[in-house]
Amino acid sequence: MARHLITSAIPYINGIKHLGNLVGSQLPADLFARYQRGRGNEVLFLCSTDEHGTPAELAAAKAGKPVAEYCAEMHEVQARIAEGFRLSFDHFGRSSSEQNHALTQHFAAKLAENDLIREVSETQMYSHADGRYLPDRYIEGTCPNCGFDSARGDQCDNCTKQLDPVDLINPHSTISGSTDLEMRETKHLYLRQTAMKDQLDAWIDSKKDWPVLTTSIAKKWLHDGDGLQDRGITRDLDWGVPVKKGGEDWPGMEGKVFYVWFDAPIEYIACSQEWVDAGKGADWERWWRTDKGAEDVTYTQFMGKDNVPFHTLSFPSTILGSGEPWKLVDYIKSFNYLNYDGGQFSTSRGRGVFMDQALEILPADYWRWWLLSHAPESSDSEFTWENFQQSVNKDLADVLGNFVSRITKFCRSKFGEEVPAGGAFGEKEAAVIAALTERLKAYEGFMDAIEVRKAAGELRAIWVIGNEYLQDAAPWSTFKEDPETAAAQVRFGLNLIRFYAILSAPFIPDASDAMLAAMKSDDRAWPDDVAAALNALPAGHGFAVPENLFRKITDEEREEWQERFAGVRT
Ligand code: MF3
Ligand code: ZN
Repeated sequence: MARHLITSAIPYINGIKHLGNLVGSQLPADLFARYQRGRGNEVLFLCSTDEHGTPAELAAAKAGKPVAEYCAEMHEVQARIAEGFRLSFDHFGRSSSEQNHALTQHFAAKLAENDLIREVSETQMYSHADGRYLPDRYIEGTCPNCGFDSARGDQCDNCTKQLDPVDLINPHSTISGSTDLEMRETKHLYLRQTAMKDQLDAWIDSKKDWPVLTTSIAKKWLHDGDGLQDRGITRDLDWGVPVKKGGEDWPGMEGKVFYVWFDAPIEYIACSQEWVDAGKGADWERWWRTDKGAEDVTYTQFMGKDNVPFHTLSFPSTILGSGEPWKLVDYIKSFNYLNYDGGQFSTSRGRGVFMDQALEILPADYWRWWLLSHAPESSDSEFTWENFQQSVNKDLADVLGNFVSRITKFCRSKFGEEVPAGGAFGEKEAAVIAALTERLKAYEGFMDAIEVRKAAGELRAIWVIGNEYLQDAAPWSTFKEDPETAAAQVRFGLNLIRFYAILSAPFIPDASDAMLAAMKSDDRAWPDDVAAALNALPAGHGFAVPENLFRKITDEEREEWQERFAGVRT
């Protein structure tokens, strides 16, 4: 039995994610986790909320809540929505956990011990009214170049000139509006990634099977322009992991926290400790410590392309730099962006479908199927309502749903609610078995390689084979002269339903459950042998006609939804 550690990039706590976020990390990670479990492998599938940083603080302030309370609430909201999408995390943790605090401080101590951290003095804008240092983008003022009156501290949106906050005329805080700002000298910690460059380079070079999207981004950051830079890993914020060396104070770092991108990936490990502490698992080290059994674990990470530098360079610097035997990622599956109906998803303008809204209008499987079968793998892809309607109506309703309903209803009407006896499988069935054997191999190959769209294509082809068989065998006509053969055809069809349920579970888990329940079967063993799998339900085995598995999306609905999710026009 193989062992798979699987993590999804952890979503920011502030706000509910849109479908583009979902398809870029959590959903394909879930597909892979379900598939590996289905194959009988041992899986630990982890995700969390990413709770630190300025955006979390600001969102809490906007909601008028203390940040800890805001995060606790939003974590619950995201956890419920994740359940709604049937994301099968073994644990959904929080980067603000005690475990992550301790582990982040532990890594910082190790990195300091190994001389990989240096202290740097910087000047930074302090706001007296806000009682805090302001990140560049929270300072606005008049652009010295073009006179635009709301240029940000890092850049003028009007003339695009790159700015420093000190360049701005009449700078003010965008949080409070206060102009009582002062440049102060302050110390920060930098992770010496430059010292790790050769090691990282060699490690990435050794990954011959990684998606080009992943390695090209990593290589670009390693070599282009000024190449890999040392990176500031501390911030002047209240909310975050306090800067300490293990349990010890860090002189000069009082009141500072680690940068969110330093502690967030460490949460992948801390999440497994939370999983154990929640009583769900016995041992996290056998997943993460190569000296404690993790050497035979395959670790796969899922993320959008914007996350790749942090997972190919920064986090590996932390892991390698610690000098401790932590498990490094084996495979990074990254995604391009999903666009929405001729533009981009926009959280601020409410443009596109957000995860909670999606579940309000249709069950999870509809979305899972469309998103996965259109995953933005080799390039960006686009959600359109026409395409969504077409895929759902065709693949799910006409092909799979219709197959299940025709077979079960026909059997009930002619033979009753038991798998019929009589007849024997003949040439037609043998041809189907041969075709399915080929397709199954291809499906497994794509799933093993996490080629999501191609896997969906094979699954669809596997469903189509059933429909074509039914069309060709036509038990409703066979029945008139040869009820025995019709019985065998129906028996074959009912077995196909069970077979489809097992293969389809990673994509459409609810429909898969409904199909298995209708076949009164809880045997989910992955088919090693198609012929054997299609004999699993013997004559006399009871079944029920399931509720319609998938309904069609009407043109009226499509138009209504398109209008509703178009966002506020500006
Ligand atoms: N919250 C980040 C995002 O949504 C992802 C963090 S992934 C981790 O882009 F590695 F930092 F955990
Ligand atoms: Zn300007």
